[in-house]
Amino acid sequence: MTISQILKKYHHIDLLDLQVILAHVLQKSREFLITHETEPISFFNQLKFKRLVNKRKSGISIAYLTGHKEFFRLDFLVNKHTLVPRPDTEILVETVISHITYHITHNNDKLTLVDVGTGSGCIPIAINKAIKQWNNGTISVYATDISKSALNVAKQNAQIHNTKITFLHGNLLESFIQQYNNKTIEQYEHLIITANLPYLTEEQFTKEPSIHHEPKSALVAEKNGLALYEELLKQIAQSCTTYHIPHITCFFEIDPNQTNTIQKLILNYLPKGHIIITKDLAGFDRVVKITHHFPFLEASP
Ligand SMILES: C[S@@+](CC[C@H](N)C(=O)[O-])C[C@H]1O[C@@H](n2cnc3c(N)ncnc32)[C@H](O)[C@@H]1O
Repeated sequence: MTISQILKKYHHIDLLDLQVILAHVLQKSREFLITHETEPISFFNQLKFKRLVNKRKSGISIAYLTGHKEFFRLDFLVNKHTLVPRPDTEILVETVISHITYHITHNNDKLTLVDVGTGSGCIPIAINKAIKQWNNGTISVYATDISKSALNVAKQNAQIHNTKITFLHGNLLESFIQQYNNKTIEQYEHLIITANLPYLTEEQFTKEPSIHHEPKSALVAEKNGLALYEELLKQIAQSCTTYHIPHITCFFEIDPNQTNTIQKLILNYLPKGHIIITKDLAGFDRVVKITHHFPFLEASP
């Protein structure tokens, strides 16, 4: 059977999906399939293709079948332990890159970026790659996750993309904060926290069969999807007070329905926080930016 014959055989399935699966099986590009339509496919590869097509029919994401997903024009390894990076999250990455770029060109202070709930590591890796030209040691990057299996994938991705990131296992910011336990945070330090934490409700998850093959612990949170963001805000507020962190800027990805509730939560934990919401390409609220300056600094001459 040739490339064109096998693609025609499964004509009831989306052609792009078929091409991506076949290219993966043959370890070739999609362009190769188009220019080599009469190339024969071995019996073993036909079986492999059929098995993956059947999995696709059962609703498994193409990214899990091929083990790869493109995000911010970079290729990321993914598996059943990681969420498949979403295009919406590119908005968060772009917003953070503009913030850092502006910051670097206007200030000299040392930046520390912590990505909380890093999954495949797509957020800090994409940011780190984009700011590489300005990062001459002034930005330290950390990433945390509660899932050791996800962290293993993130570490591989960081290695593939040749980016220096310190990965920490633990609940939200806890493992990062522990690092600072016996260390004074210097006055010039500016902390940036990024997070795309699980924010769906149980009901949203149940209603969306396309996401049932992804780890539920990466998608769903209690308290209308905001339990983890609330816990993170609590940890941030506590660290601000304990360690006198002068400047914190947070970027959280949210569900558009959560705008009002998250704003209330933010002001509850960080009453002096300044909030800006960025919309996604469909015009829905997607990224919450919180800027917080430690009050002691404002009071000082
Ligand atoms: C929505 S996924 C996002 C993954 C990745 N940041 C992205 O944008 O594709 C949420 C991630 O948060 C992690 N997570 C869930 N609860 C956590 C917790 N309490 N502390 C740290 N990470 C957590 C999950 O394991 C998962 O990798």
